[in-house]
Amino acid sequence: MVAERESMDLFTQRTSQSGSGQTRGLKRALAALTFAPLMLAGAGFATPAVAQDTAAPTVTATLQADKPGPVVHRDVFGQFAEHLGHGIYGGIWVGKNSRIPNDGGYRRDVLDALKAINVPMVRWPGGCFADEYHWRDGIGATKSRPTKVNTNWGGVNEDNSFGTHEYFGLMDRLGASTYVSANVGSAPPAETAQWVEYMTAAKGTTVLAKERERNGHAAPWKIQYLGIGNELWGCGGNMRAEYAADLTNRYAQFAKSANGTMLKIASGPSDSNYEWTEAMMRIAGKNIDGLALHYYTRPRDKDWKDKGAAIGFPEREWASTMSHTLEMEEFITKHSAIMDKYDPAKRVMLAVDEWGTWYDPTPGSNPGFLEQQNSLRDAVVAGLNLNIFAHHADRVKMAAIAQMVNVLQAMLLTDGARMVKTPTYWVFDLYKPWQGATSLPIQVTSPWYHKDEVAVPAVSASAVRDTAGQVHVALVNLDPNRAMPVSVSLAGLQATQASGRIITGTAMDAHNSFDAPDTVVPQPFTGAQVTGGNLTLTVPAKSVLVLDLR
Ligand code: AHR
Repeated sequence: MVAERESMDLFTQRTSQSGSGQTRGLKRALAALTFAPLMLAGAGFATPAVAQDTAAPTVTATLQADKPGPVVHRDVFGQFAEHLGHGIYGGIWVGKNSRIPNDGGYRRDVLDALKAINVPMVRWPGGCFADEYHWRDGIGATKSRPTKVNTNWGGVNEDNSFGTHEYFGLMDRLGASTYVSANVGSAPPAETAQWVEYMTAAKGTTVLAKERERNGHAAPWKIQYLGIGNELWGCGGNMRAEYAADLTNRYAQFAKSANGTMLKIASGPSDSNYEWTEAMMRIAGKNIDGLALHYYTRPRDKDWKDKGAAIGFPEREWASTMSHTLEMEEFITKHSAIMDKYDPAKRVMLAVDEWGTWYDPTPGSNPGFLEQQNSLRDAVVAGLNLNIFAHHADRVKMAAIAQMVNVLQAMLLTDGARMVKTPTYWVFDLYKPWQGATSLPIQVTSPWYHKDEVAVPAVSASAVRDTAGQVHVALVNLDPNRAMPVSVSLAGLQATQASGRIITGTAMDAHNSFDAPDTVVPQPFTGAQVTGGNLTLTVPAKSVLVLDLR
């Protein structure tokens, strides 16, 4: 606590020196500190901006393996797949007659890659697309499905060849939980109710169950999550929170799964819209099982037209990206505190079902397709967010990165028959042991990373005990210049060895291209020692490291 107070004093001092233009950056750094209970300021707090080649002070941490926390739900590693650009068409679905190798129309390379990271859940069909989607357009013979214009994303034709049956076919192949977002913005509640009936009614029981059978699927599907609209404050209908909450009650009332639990997720706030959370919980809290939170990291967040480039960016934008990412901690903490007032038992989950980086689109691409390259910076952003979600496992029980393939912070990029795994993909691969594992408290005292007006703790961590009993520690060093010596005291754990895998690179924007797909891939890490109940190692600059303790 002393270190934290002193750091705050330091910020006060720097704020008064730096003038209004820099205040926001300082506020962000301070917020990251204040709302990062597991990330306290440390030995380096009083050090002014450091030269790039100076040795970093040691990061100290305590891992409490004897104080298990809540389970990190596997659906926290969920994905979002919207009808947007090549997120579905070309990226996942190529159709049965494609020359691209496919399994019933789904790209084999993409399926194999997604299965390898145990994708636990996929949210579909939007996003903004969901509140203009009419499910009947996407069932029945493909050639009879109507072609419409995707008014949200690029104004391109949507031929509806990927619909309800194709979505569940994908979920079957991935073995993933299902998350269907219903149209609240432009369709009546009966439409949602009928779609749910179509999907879940037992074989032969209703007219809609029989129609589903005629369309090729006699058995009902299971809906794990039903989204009650998307961003109802914006593209979902520009509603006031109170009106959206009333509608949420109404739609939730009539959407009835015929085969058991279907968790209802209300359209939630974006960023720091705490009034939205307050109204939703007050008016609809008893009728929902989850509240969505959307937060995108943009290097420049003045306006949405100028977000910053995905690659070829200056260090200043590396730093702002990191400090903006760490704001997730503050948002989750404050939204959770409001939810605690109405739901102290934490029955209603906070579902961070859109998160990730959002940059200016790849030059030359359709700006409505939200295509962007994915670099080492994205890998570090992913590691930071996944650590934050693990710290909040009591409330954050589901999340979805935006988006799975070809859109925003994607796992995979495709170009015709080619596919490449991004650095973010490899972070999800490293964090697989976190799925369904028990969180373990880890307190970190970290030096700062400074750049211009930004100052953030350099190292973030989370730890879990997996279902087989093995302990894993993730360490993310967001400092792009300095390796960090780390010393972790292991309480309640008899480990003697630690090894794992690391994602790092020489350039801040190191990335994988179709011609060089293995530039950023995990490498074995054997530089850790465990002696006398202490884990010691040096975490390279700009890296995500996962260690397995034995
Ligand atoms: O992920 C892209 C878009 O971002 C989604 O459609 C929308 O919900 C959000 O604004």
